Parts: sequence; C-alpha cells; structure tokens
Amino acid sequence: MSSTSDLTSHGTSDFKPQPNALGKGFAHLDFDGHDLPPSPAPSTPTSGRKYALATELVYTESNDQYNASSVPIYQSATFKGGPGQEYDYSRSGNPTRTHLERHLAKIMSANRALVVASGMACLDVITRLLRPGDEVITGDDLYGGTNRLLKYLSTNNGIVVHHVDTTNPETVKKALGKKTAMVLLETPTNPLIKVVDIPAISAHTHAANPDAVVVVDNTMLSPYLQNPLDLGADIVYESGTKYLSGHHDLMAGVMAINNVALGEKLYFTINASGCALSPFDSWLLLRGIKTLAVRMEKQQTNAMVIAQFLESKGFKVRYPGLKSHPQYELHWAQARGAGAVLSFETGSIQTSERIVEAARLFAISVSFGCVNSLISMPCRMSHASIDAATRKERALPEDIIRLCVGIEDVNDLVDDLSQALVRAGAVRITPDGIEALGVGRTLDDGKAPEPLEGDGTMTEDSALDEPQEGRPS
Ligand SMILES: Cc1ncc(COP(=O)(O)O)c(C=O)c1O
Repeated sequence: MSSTSDLTSHGTSDFKPQPNALGKGFAHLDFDGHDLPPSPAPSTPTSGRKYALATELVYTESNDQYNASSVPIYQSATFKGGPGQEYDYSRSGNPTRTHLERHLAKIMSANRALVVASGMACLDVITRLLRPGDEVITGDDLYGGTNRLLKYLSTNNGIVVHHVDTTNPETVKKALGKKTAMVLLETPTNPLIKVVDIPAISAHTHAANPDAVVVVDNTMLSPYLQNPLDLGADIVYESGTKYLSGHHDLMAGVMAINNVALGEKLYFTINASGCALSPFDSWLLLRGIKTLAVRMEKQQTNAMVIAQFLESKGFKVRYPGLKSHPQYELHWAQARGAGAVLSFETGSIQTSERIVEAARLFAISVSFGCVNSLISMPCRMSHASIDAATRKERALPEDIIRLCVGIEDVNDLVDDLSQALVRAGAVRITPDGIEALGVGRTLDDGKAPEPLEGDGTMTEDSALDEPQEGRPS
C-alpha cells in the first residue's frame, strides 16, 4: 500500500500551507484542516473537532489569502511554476476541486473523495478496475444507465455480469466465486424501492474473495442519510446531479473510498481519461452541499405525507418510510431516513399516463433530488433503455409512477396529486374524499397493464433516455 509521500505526479509531499489568521493564534490546532497534503492526496483532516453532519455540511475549510467566505473558483487550466508545485494542470488537480473533494471526504466518512463529470463517469472510472474475465454481481432493479454500461462491458470488454435479486443476501452468496471482482449495489433501488442489506452482502463478498470490491450507488439517499463505507462497502459513488447539488443545474459524480491504494487507482483513471469535474461545477456543487441537510429533511417529510396520502386512498405505494414496506426494519438498520423518492401503481398504463400529464406542480422529468417535485413513468423515461422483455422479466410494472418529492408546501403537493388522480379517472369520489379504484380496476378499461414496446415517447432527457437498444448514444 502506498502512502501520500509516494505520490510523485505533483511532488507534493513537503507542502506546508500558510496558516490563516485563526491558525496563527492557535498554531497547534488544525482549525482549517489544511495541515494536509494537497490534492490528489488523501484529504481527511486527521485532527480537529468532528461536528454533526448538518454542521460539517456548511462548514467548509479555507486557507484563502483573503479569507473569502465562498471558496474561490480557480478558473484556470494551468498553474505557473514548474516541478514541485502543488498544482500544474487542472485535469490533474485544481484548488476548487480539491476543496470539494476534502469536504466530501469528511461528509462521506471517507479517507478520500474524488469528483468527476457525472454519476455515470463515476461508474466508468470504477469499472475500469475490472479485467476481461472478471465477474460482476449486481441487482435486477438498477438505474437504466448503469444497466446500459454493464451491458456494454459484457458485450465488448469480456466482463461477465450476473443480475440477481440482491434483496436476498443468500442469493448473492450463491452467485459469489473466485472470479467475482465486484459486487455493485443500489439501495433503495429505483423505482421498485427494494432494500439491499449492505453489511451482510459486504461480509459474504469479502469472505468469498478478499480482493473483490463492494461498490454502492448511494444516489437515492445521499451521505446525509446513509454511509455505505461505514456499512462494509469499499467504494461508494453518487450522482452529484441529484441531492448533493439539489437544483438540477449541474452534472456531477462523486466517489469515496477508505483504501489508499484503491483511491490512487481511481485517481489515476480520472487523470488519465480527463473526466474530473470542472472548477465552476466544483464550486456549484460545494454551494449545493451546504443546504443538503435542510433540503433533505424537508423533502423526506413531504414524501412521507404524500406516501401516507396515497396509501390511505388505497394505492399500492413503495416507500421505506411506510411500515407496510416489506423491508422497513432492514432499511432503518442501515439508513437515517427514508429519502424522498416513492413509487405507486394504478393498474393501468393509460391511467398512469393521464395522472402524469394532469399533474401541474409535479413536473414531468427524469432524474430526482431537485428542490422541485417531479413525476415520471420510469418504463417510458429513466428505464426506457432496459428493453421491454427484460423489464417484464424483472417484474417492473409498466404502469408504475415515480414521485420525487421537493420542498414545496406539502398541502399544495397533495392538492396537485388529488386533482391529477381525479382528472385521470384513477379514483372515485366518495362522501369522505377520494378512493382508488384499485389495481387492475380503472374508470377507462380495468385491464391489467401490458408491457410497453415503447420508444420512450415521454422522454425529454437526452442522456438516459435516448439509448434504446442498438441505438447509439
Ligand atoms: C441511481 C442513479 N445512479 C446513477 C445515475 C447517473 O448519474 P448521472 O446522470 O449524474 O450520470 C443516476 C441518474 O439518474 C441514478 O438515478
């Protein structure tokens, strides 16, 4: 295993930052966390007080020469000086990005964090750890883009991918073998909101093959609600496009690790391929992260009200905040909250389409994690890249509606959904309010849903959602 002093690309081992004004008075304390080797070295302060997560999120450390409250954007591709200086070229390292990475390492409970251009760029970097013949075990309810990249790797790079029901650790255990190089998990899954036991699967994986890495996509919950590294995972990654940034105004991907050698391998690929996050986007993401706690608290409180509302009207709702969730106990054993994504079924594709179209406050959009509430039909949008036959095989209901709840006034959200349900003919009006007509029973046809052969007609996201099978992205 190498140490920070092994890093030669930027010759940084003897870096000694100038203390800021506070640091001068208390030189023995690392108040601003900058008795640290600079990027690309590991970034967690080894001394200093650890605050509660909500405090850590807003408390960014800086040794800025003017004590700027907001970390400056170093919008510079190059840095003058020559060998031995901290930064030379922004593909390899940039001070704004370093700040973000150090900040994220703390809040992700990691030794090191790395930031790249998107969530998918994270998975691209991580899967470059694989060699032809390596086996990957993963779930059967994956984000469509993840599914697409894994399919590409199995088709073109000799990687063997096993999709299994990761909600059952014993099923994963049976699939593990000496060739297993990676176990890739999402929890809760999306849109079926299935929960995966991270500690049990991590233990089985490391027992079967100590060299195999457990990778967790933590996008659905964010580090505010779940820390997979503390639960036994080796690598955690997230789409920073979602809760971390919170406003759907940037694309970013974040990964975190505790193993120094693994961190260096990932950094090598980022530097070699040039997918690191730009200085401006690093700054935007830093800004978004400061409000993660307040946004997430409000969003999941609203989500709970909406989940209870839909359930009370007779819809089949999937949300880990509801006691009716079959893995309620497991979810709360590893997470600090239920998040703000839920899904429900109506029993009819047409009815679901009408609900989605009738909602006003809930915007029709792919993605989630934004302060605004969003509504979508995953089979036509975020998961349209999974072909209809595979969706059927994986029991993904074609009528499923996903709600990503924002920070609006919750009464407005409930009103908006109520009027959409009424206008879509999904409910009957009773003296006490409204009542679901029931799965398989709707005002229009009452038929069970047929799989969509769809070309994703509702798709407005060019990224995911473009890639139907065989069509180039
Ligand atoms: C669970 C999950 N993981 C990864 C990604 C990919 O992230 P990005 O769109 O930032 O590449 C997404 C995007 O929707 C996602 O939902």
